Amino acid sequence: MSQNTAIRFYDLHPPQTDHIGETIEGLSKKQKQLPPKLFYDEKGSKIFDQICEQPEYYPTRTEIEILRQNAREIAEYCSDNNLLLELGSGASKKIRILLETLRPNSYVGVDISKEFLIESTTRLAKDYPWLDVHATCADFSHDLDLTHCPDNQRILAFFPGSSIGNFTPTEAQLFLGRLHKLIGPGGLLLIGVDLVKDIDILNAAYNDSHGVTARFNLNLLERLNFELDANFDLERFQHYAFFNPHHSRIEMHLVSRDEQTVHLGPHRFDFRKGESIHTENSYKYTIDGFEEMARNTGWRPVKFWTDDAQKFSIQLFSTE
Ligand code: AVI
Repeated sequence: MSQNTAIRFYDLHPPQTDHIGETIEGLSKKQKQLPPKLFYDEKGSKIFDQICEQPEYYPTRTEIEILRQNAREIAEYCSDNNLLLELGSGASKKIRILLETLRPNSYVGVDISKEFLIESTTRLAKDYPWLDVHATCADFSHDLDLTHCPDNQRILAFFPGSSIGNFTPTEAQLFLGRLHKLIGPGGLLLIGVDLVKDIDILNAAYNDSHGVTARFNLNLLERLNFELDANFDLERFQHYAFFNPHHSRIEMHLVSRDEQTVHLGPHRFDFRKGESIHTENSYKYTIDGFEEMARNTGWRPVKFWTDDAQKFSIQLFSTE
């Protein structure tokens, strides 16, 4: 454990060799793919923040609006839970609404992007001097260890942004099951879940007119060039995102503009013209569908909140 002046910081980040293995495995598949967690290096996390400000990208704005409008009621349901655990804390903006209404004793932010996490939790510690702030750099999609966090406090896990949608339904179930075990008796889960809606709204959200989502997608290749000694030519790949109604998900791809060969260290990958790398899924749920999935992993639905247009939901579950 290394200690920052204002926050307690724990680095549980996987070694870089994990990324190499996953990248090579993904690019060797018939449908080439890359794990979406690779989006979130420091630059990628900043571009993601810009996505959240695009007029077409409704989830962030809508989730914040739902939180603001219902903060008091949410706080009433969560008043016994004094440890607020935020999964994928990113810029930690939404958490401020909860911190101000809930006033928990401790906050634990977990994110895969180290610099970004330290920056944002340090800001929180400065702005809320009464709060005990912890930061854990970890890939919570695999495993999460909370043994170093304050114990004897009931946990409220906050998983905003519909990041659950970036898991496949099978992965989401595994994740929800693990989280249920981890946060234990008296625990609560407040989770942002994006809802099924008009296809045009969905497609626009992942094809913003300023090309920010395209930059976010292409940054993945830049990261592989920089970190894993790859030689992707970004000009020769194109962002492509669409709603796949069969799977109820947005798919993001990077499409090769022509036939080409890319090297990653000693490995060689050939692309046909039009062949794609599948970089992300973003599943959209109905309220009932998500509740059923959570129930199957041991969670009890307590309450949900949505916006007037029912674009997005914030759902509360209890471990018991
Ligand atoms: C983080 N996650 C919930 C975003 C989403 O909407 O699936 C990531 C994203 N990808 C493109 N735009 C936003």
